[in-house]
Amino acid sequence: MACTDNHNNNTITYSKTDPINKKVDSLIKIMTLKEKIGQMNQYNGFWDVTGPAPDNGDAEIKYEHLKNGLVGSMLSVRGTKAVRAVQKIAVEESRLGIPLIIGFDVIHGYKTLSPIPLAEAASWDLEAIEKSAQVAAAEASAAGINWTFAPMVDISRDPRWGRVMEGAGEDPFLGSKIAVARVKGFQGDDLSAVNTIAACAKHFAAYGFSEAGKEYNTVDIGNSTLHNTVLPPFKAAVEANVKTLMNAFNEYDGVPATGNEYLLRNILKDKWGFKGFVITDWASIKEMVIWGYAKDKRDAAKIAALAGSDMDMESHIYVSELEQLVKDGVIDEKIIDEAARRILTVKFELGLFDDPYRYCDETREKEVVNSPKHLDVVLDMAKKSIVLLKNENDLLPLKKQGQNIALIGALANEKNSPLGSWRIASKDNTGVSVLEGMQNYKDNNLIYKKGADITVGDTQFVNELTINTTDKSEFNEAIDVAKKADVVVMVLGEHGFQSGEARSRTDINLPGVQQELLEAIYKVNKNIVLVLNNGRPLSITWADKHIPAILETWQLGTQAGHAVAQVLYGDYNPSGKLPMTFPRNVGQIPIYYNHKNTGRPVRDAFNPELVFWSHYSDVENTPLYHFGHGLSYTTFKYENLALEKTVFGMDETINISVGITNTGKVTGKEVAQLYIRDLVASTTRPVKELKGFELIELQAGETKTVNFVLNKASLGFYNNQGDFIIEPGTFEIFIGGSSQTTLNTRFELE
Ligand code: BGC
Repeated sequence: MACTDNHNNNTITYSKTDPINKKVDSLIKIMTLKEKIGQMNQYNGFWDVTGPAPDNGDAEIKYEHLKNGLVGSMLSVRGTKAVRAVQKIAVEESRLGIPLIIGFDVIHGYKTLSPIPLAEAASWDLEAIEKSAQVAAAEASAAGINWTFAPMVDISRDPRWGRVMEGAGEDPFLGSKIAVARVKGFQGDDLSAVNTIAACAKHFAAYGFSEAGKEYNTVDIGNSTLHNTVLPPFKAAVEANVKTLMNAFNEYDGVPATGNEYLLRNILKDKWGFKGFVITDWASIKEMVIWGYAKDKRDAAKIAALAGSDMDMESHIYVSELEQLVKDGVIDEKIIDEAARRILTVKFELGLFDDPYRYCDETREKEVVNSPKHLDVVLDMAKKSIVLLKNENDLLPLKKQGQNIALIGALANEKNSPLGSWRIASKDNTGVSVLEGMQNYKDNNLIYKKGADITVGDTQFVNELTINTTDKSEFNEAIDVAKKADVVVMVLGEHGFQSGEARSRTDINLPGVQQELLEAIYKVNKNIVLVLNNGRPLSITWADKHIPAILETWQLGTQAGHAVAQVLYGDYNPSGKLPMTFPRNVGQIPIYYNHKNTGRPVRDAFNPELVFWSHYSDVENTPLYHFGHGLSYTTFKYENLALEKTVFGMDETINISVGITNTGKVTGKEVAQLYIRDLVASTTRPVKELKGFELIELQAGETKTVNFVLNKASLGFYNNQGDFIIEPGTFEIFIGGSSQTTLNTRFELE
């Protein structure tokens, strides 16, 4: 029991073996209103905590608040020394000595980095994703952190939005499975273990639908999209016992998410029974004033607290306003008690009251952070995240001997960009570059030429980038090398900081002069393997038309270059499938596989010249690469799609089987995907909905039968009131290696 009154010796009355709710109750009883509000206050790291105490400005106020028990949490304080120092103030100097919960953005790793989350989603490998989160939790917890602001579970259909790199793509079913895997990976089975941390599903809700993909923008979606597309991954995370949720910067239906009672209380806390706590996003209480939703700070505090935002991240408003609001009778103290209780419960569950320094073991920090064992895990994850988009004439894998290979592109020699955008704790330039990865294959003659820079000047996480749109002075050197090469490998795409928060783009082609470089090289050598590095789907229509082999490698983290090289040389057979649609051009956005049919989906068969159908006159309706698309160095054949019968009762389980054969020459893995279509319903349903997937490995020539199960939960949907309903009728099912599969059958649900 860590909690005693340090000044008045007012010891708490619970015992170690009491259940957590009893401990929390007895603690709440002796807390002043101010102290309870203090638990609801989170500050960013504010001074060199291992140095002298600050004596002026914002830092001094934060320090005073910390000493006086008016801070419940800190974010972005990291490393055992720094965490111990702030924890010591909270525990030893405040009246009750309540430990802090220490939060940090551990988005795809702490120091050792996994691929960006969108890339991991392309693996469809839930076990690997869970392991990757375990590694992140192990390193972060060894560095003093006990709470991550991840997973980001925002579904998005808009690659202009830079934060798609942080999520799992466009599909709520895949997104829900991945949300659960990540929560499990971070939190483990025992939150009080020293190598697990509390997770945070964010951003609640609908942030991924910011209009026109513009960061922090208005969201205006209907109820059907909210309930069927946006909310399912959050609900899945709650069912997986996620300890916290973060609200979103956007408004939903005219109400900022931070003050949205419908989302936070009615749905999350009441309907879903969420027991953890809600943290606001950075300063989002304050921003309600700027939105024009709250009059002033006091009004904003009232709205956020009543709506159900439990902890204030860096608005500094709960701590300044809530006490008076309670004293004035505007807010019932019960609201404060509820929030404090939720926060304290998580602190107890983490074991912080047993030992507030349990995450501050320097020996463990040295052993665990950057452990070589973690490199194997992130390398495995990186290989699994790669998607082979195109491979004409089997240009890939590359031959291992006797080849002249020209490696071209600034990103080929990058050790920073592969680390992605959210990697605050990791050291710059610690990723393995593609050049380094390819240099391990020594029996070819590899020559590297940059061709052109992507950016100009300094690149920082927080600053706008300057893209090189003019300097082509190194094109010629690259062209000369390409002329003499048997194969050209071009690594092109986005700088690591071009995606992530506040990195929206209206043009999602290859940035800068890279498209020109690609075309200039193509003029002298058509044997090009295009290796893409990017944090979002790109529109690479020209490349798809001309370049024979295209490999999507995203930003793959610390081991990026090794993973890419092993796939290029066939030491690893790629099996990734796209978690998000690649458009032909930006005008098609939003374009996603699970769209509605419309009343005019196809051209008039008898009068094909007529324009009155749902289409564009300048580009075809299909995307460049579909959701679920991804090739392998082998091929797979699907056949014998079988259902045990064709009519099922509501409560029956529907067993489906399909035979899959590896029809190529090498062993390969395949993600078999099951989609349904509900043909007629009380609200229109998507033309396809993913409802199952299986990752299987097959030797050359081998056939396996894969079984899928559908039930009520898979066949129902949310009506516009947010109720889950199941309606009888005809369902079509499709199974195959992408969302474009046509292998199908039907059944009736009675
Ligand atoms: C982001 C959150 C993040 C928070 C703390 C905000 O700007 O939207 O996702 O967790 O900062 O760093």
